[in-house]
Amino acid sequence: MNLFRKKNIAELIRGTEGNSLKKTLGAMDLVLLGIGCIIGTGIFVLTGVAAAKYAGPGIMLSFVLSGLACAFAALAYAELASMVPVTGSAYTFAYVAIGEVVAFAVGWALICEYTIGSAAIAAGWSGYMVGLLKSAGIALPTAWTAVPADGGILNVPSVVIIAFLTYLLILGTRESASLNKILVFIKLGCIGFFLLVATPHINPVNWQPFLPYGLGGVAAGAAIVFFAYIGFDTVSTAVEECKNPNRDIPIGIVGSLVVATILYIAVAAVLTGVVPYSTLNNSEPVAFALRAIGMNFGSALVALGAICGITTVLLVFMYGQTRIFLAMARDGMIPQSLVKIHPKYGTPHIITMIAGCVVATLSGLLPINIIAELCNMGTLFAFVIVSIGVWVLRSTQPDLPRPFRCPAVKVIVPFAVLLCSYLITNLPVETLAFFGCWCVIGMVVYFTYSRKNSAMVSKNTNISQKG
Ligand code: ALA
Repeated sequence: MNLFRKKNIAELIRGTEGNSLKKTLGAMDLVLLGIGCIIGTGIFVLTGVAAAKYAGPGIMLSFVLSGLACAFAALAYAELASMVPVTGSAYTFAYVAIGEVVAFAVGWALICEYTIGSAAIAAGWSGYMVGLLKSAGIALPTAWTAVPADGGILNVPSVVIIAFLTYLLILGTRESASLNKILVFIKLGCIGFFLLVATPHINPVNWQPFLPYGLGGVAAGAAIVFFAYIGFDTVSTAVEECKNPNRDIPIGIVGSLVVATILYIAVAAVLTGVVPYSTLNNSEPVAFALRAIGMNFGSALVALGAICGITTVLLVFMYGQTRIFLAMARDGMIPQSLVKIHPKYGTPHIITMIAGCVVATLSGLLPINIIAELCNMGTLFAFVIVSIGVWVLRSTQPDLPRPFRCPAVKVIVPFAVLLCSYLITNLPVETLAFFGCWCVIGMVVYFTYSRKNSAMVSKNTNISQKG
């Protein structure tokens, strides 16, 4: 029984010939695409949670640490994405580089990343929406805007935004490049505005003590704010549409990560400088800080920008989730019936609806930090496998064309694996335990269903019958 049967890259690439996409994107477009998918709930909400609970003002260092882990993993990611420009997901990369059972594990981890990530993003959206409505004089009852752990019953705004986006996805809505650009500028504008008006109110006393929970707190903070960087992989999915992938993909990925890191550190510094870090564990810390310095109108403006920005990230995540399911179903890893295409809208409506219900339930009932940590676990696991995959392919198939080559691969790849693994070890034990259970369930699915139904089985049977 061959657990490591692999897909053939040359065959995959041949499959895309004749329907290749127009090459219209340059480096700047890719940087904007990356920023559009990266900046969202992480900076607008989790910075506050992580500063208050784990790192204090040292949260700035947490951003540096998780930014580094992402940058290393991103370079490895870009190499595989440029070699396997078919679906652009880590699942396909692992199928090509390592083999089926590992690919299944990565796909299973990505389902965790996208489903649980969407729930966390929606929770962030809800925090700003509830705050904005409150500033407009509409105070919604806590019972219906908070999760049980925070004294509520259900986070209804989260459920509503997920239901709405699920509906749009069923109708076939995708993020559009031009709308993305507008929203990126709104998002950057609102962060710029915050920095501009809040910086003069910094009181350096608030930065003392800088590391209230020590360096361990910085690492624990990095493990949660890692969420703020997730999404840069979207840049690598655009490889087929790049004018010059070898140059533009790394610029797109690294450029968007650099912009995000600078903004994140700046926001973290100003946020913890303006108010005591211990007050930041709330659902809309950036708007809260502006209200604390008496800028009610500015606070509402920032909330509006945050809501717009977070909505696009949520749409990208919920769309990405259906794409993982589609890729896995095409390979026979999960039942085809789940991804049946709607006759009128041409979208996988059944799985979109099921996923929407799961995301809404998680978001409506669980605290944001718990779901964000779970999402990070799935993503970090996928990054580790992708990085190892780059190493494996360099030694097993050194002559394959690589439109983009990860520079200094012998340094970057081990660092990516080490840093991502280090962040994993800094996640709460419950998160690791949950992910362990998730993997066990995955392996049960693989060995009882996917292995027998894999498209590779029918392909091999056809080949042996022809032989
Ligand atoms: N990086 C994305 C966010 O922060 C997931 O919302």
